Amino acid sequence: MPEWHELGSRYLMNTIKRFPATMVRGQGVRLWDDQGREYLDFVGGWAVTCLGHAHPAIVAALTRQAQLLTQSSLYHYNVPQVQLAELLVKNSCLDRVFFCNSGAEAVEGAMKLARKYARTHRDGAYEVVSALNSFHGRTLATVAATGQSRYQEPFLPMPDGFTNVPYNDIEAIKKATTDKTCAVLLEPVQGEGGVNLPSEDYLRQVRRWCDEQGLVFIMDEVQTGIGRTGTLFAYEQFGVEPDVMTLAKGLGGGFPIAAILAKEKFSVFVPGDHGSTYGGNPLACAVGHAVVSYVLENDVPGQVRRVGKHFTSRLLDMKERFPVISDVRGRGLLLAMEFSRDIADDVQLACLDRALIINRLKPNAIRFMPALVITEAEVDEGVDIVRQALEQVLAKQGR
Ligand SMILES: Cc1ncc(COP(=O)(O)O)c(C=O)c1O
Repeated sequence: MPEWHELGSRYLMNTIKRFPATMVRGQGVRLWDDQGREYLDFVGGWAVTCLGHAHPAIVAALTRQAQLLTQSSLYHYNVPQVQLAELLVKNSCLDRVFFCNSGAEAVEGAMKLARKYARTHRDGAYEVVSALNSFHGRTLATVAATGQSRYQEPFLPMPDGFTNVPYNDIEAIKKATTDKTCAVLLEPVQGEGGVNLPSEDYLRQVRRWCDEQGLVFIMDEVQTGIGRTGTLFAYEQFGVEPDVMTLAKGLGGGFPIAAILAKEKFSVFVPGDHGSTYGGNPLACAVGHAVVSYVLENDVPGQVRRVGKHFTSRLLDMKERFPVISDVRGRGLLLAMEFSRDIADDVQLACLDRALIINRLKPNAIRFMPALVITEAEVDEGVDIVRQALEQVLAKQGR
């Protein structure tokens, strides 16, 4: 058998530090590598595989649709596209959908939509205010919106029209707003930037400000959407409605699909304004429809609330026992554990040695974003491994 990871390191671009293992199969919250080693997966394809690996509902939708129609031109409607759009609209506060292929593409399209809206409603304003420690994707415009200098610096200069302000600071948004501002772009819970929760009133204050100023409020729910935080969309928990929302990740449960949703008033694209060859293709939409239907029919958000509460209380128990754990935070099944020292790399490696896959979020924090259908027993299994890993790391460092 070829050494896939050696071949991979020769042929693939070097964009991330990969571990020398090659995954070949998944089932539920388990993965298997090419050596037959079994792993417990608490990363879930980066908060993507909401129904777990190889879920029968996804496999059935994929195979059924693959035999019917995988791609048609943008000239025509296709059935799964319309069905998924209807399902999303009927279960959200938004009215219209544009399908695309990745989170970054959705956010970039949402910003184009806001610029288009501002052409007629705000005298051609074009600037987007977004938050420090946000994450919105890897295209040039979404990197500019992403308020983390490490993603921007290698590619300077950034495109014009983006301002990054501290999260949870309404005054900073007010100060940054000028007559050139067209939109505020925020994650309802910041994912990649640290699993940072909004303070009690923040999103409502932003909503009010956007209403007063005529700004488009774009919520990036690429990571939080489709049940991840315990409601179908995270905005539901904060008493605000976005004007425009982006989805990806969980929407396809592992099949690439993304979407921009907008209220009628903000759906200002006209033919020719925007497009995407694969956007809304029947295969992706059939899978998306199967995923969202399953999530709704089986009250997956309710399960996320229950299991997430259990997960959080297990992590808080650990915090009681290990003073090096400085914080446990998150919502639903988007959780982070922060340390008072930079031990996240070591903890991640020690978990991997024990066949648990976790995300090293920051030098001093790890993140958990498993499949939404994970059971309490599987959570316990993983948390026990995290505890053992942490004990090993601390023992090595002499505490
Ligand atoms: C909130 C948010 N927006 C956008 C993106 C970019 O999504 P993608 O990697 O599919 O382009 C991510 C990815 O992690 C994300 O978490």
